[in-house]
Amino acid sequence: MSGKADKGLSDRTCRVLDYGERQEEKGRQQFARDVLLGFFRSPKSIPSRHFYDEEGNRLFQKIMDLPEYYLTDCELEILETHRERITGHLGGQAFNLVELGAGDGKKTRVLLSHFCERDLDFRYVPIDICKPALLQLIDICGRDLPGVPIDGLVSEYFDGLAWLSGLNDRRNVVLFLGSNIGNFNASEARVFLRSLWSSLNDGDLVLIGFDLKKDIELLMRAYNDPQGVTAQFNLNLLRRINRELGGDFQVESFEHYSTYDVLSGAMESYLVSRARQSVFIESLRMRFAFEAWEPIHTEVSHKYLAGEISSMADETGFEVVDELSDSRGWFLDSLWRVRKPLTRPARA
Ligand SMILES: C[S@@+](CC[C@H](N)C(=O)[O-])C[C@H]1O[C@@H](n2cnc3c(N)ncnc32)[C@H](O)[C@@H]1O
Repeated sequence: MSGKADKGLSDRTCRVLDYGERQEEKGRQQFARDVLLGFFRSPKSIPSRHFYDEEGNRLFQKIMDLPEYYLTDCELEILETHRERITGHLGGQAFNLVELGAGDGKKTRVLLSHFCERDLDFRYVPIDICKPALLQLIDICGRDLPGVPIDGLVSEYFDGLAWLSGLNDRRNVVLFLGSNIGNFNASEARVFLRSLWSSLNDGDLVLIGFDLKKDIELLMRAYNDPQGVTAQFNLNLLRRINRELGGDFQVESFEHYSTYDVLSGAMESYLVSRARQSVFIESLRMRFAFEAWEPIHTEVSHKYLAGEISSMADETGFEVVDELSDSRGWFLDSLWRVRKPLTRPARA
């Protein structure tokens, strides 16, 4: 990795993984390719990782404060209630606390301050594709938790995992909170978990936040809040295409639609074109046609059964060490240990 320290972060470092000076341009090219690929698909789609530019990050923080968006409160309760139990699993040795898709780290700060109180020897490595979110997180931690050493990486998960595979100096403890895993479909989640497994060492730990299957009314309210913040978050994807790729989307002629698919067990979000229209995207030099009521798929938020979680751990090379739930039983933080047998598995 060729790290690059950002100025203005007091004594903290924010290293930008590998892209150097051209990082933003490369990010824009990737965004353009993903939009092109997604708009050639049927139904049209945009990958959900592109929600998180500066405005998307700001809107997501507003979502986390919504009473309908129970996920944040549930996981905050889990970490506050069980921080000592989690600490007990870490043993006494030094460790890297690596967080994938850290966002503003609101919930993680509960653990960070507890680990500081317990005088644990660790450094915090938040990894996120959204640079403004990461800078904000490092800034807040620098102010509130000045004793915690931090190396932040602005990176996509898989680049971050490649970098992680070189972290062999001490035990790695990986956080993947906030139901980020739910943004993968079933096979993508397994590919992600197996890649995570490959990047880690035997005995490393992973704490993953899973949103559980529950009353469909509760799910529907969480993704269709009456204030319309989630709608703005979704529509920001089109505004981002306008800002960064020179699109001419008339954003008000699209609407947010989110619904639960009982078969896949996921909330599915769409942007629906209210009228027949076409949109030109300057950086792609292409015009795209939309029929009236044609959807663009933007997000999947998978909901799990406890049994599905333990099977997925087993299939991808992990052992479930502990399961921590909130008082309503709506969310589960599952703690896994990496299993790396020394011998090759026998032929079936
Ligand atoms: C739903 S937010 C959750 C944030 C935090 N984990 C929490 O629980 O509050 C998802 C975060 O993951 C980041 N993210 C999404 N896709 C990513 C990807 N492919 N690679 C790296 N970060 C990603 C976003 O920028 C955002 O900060």
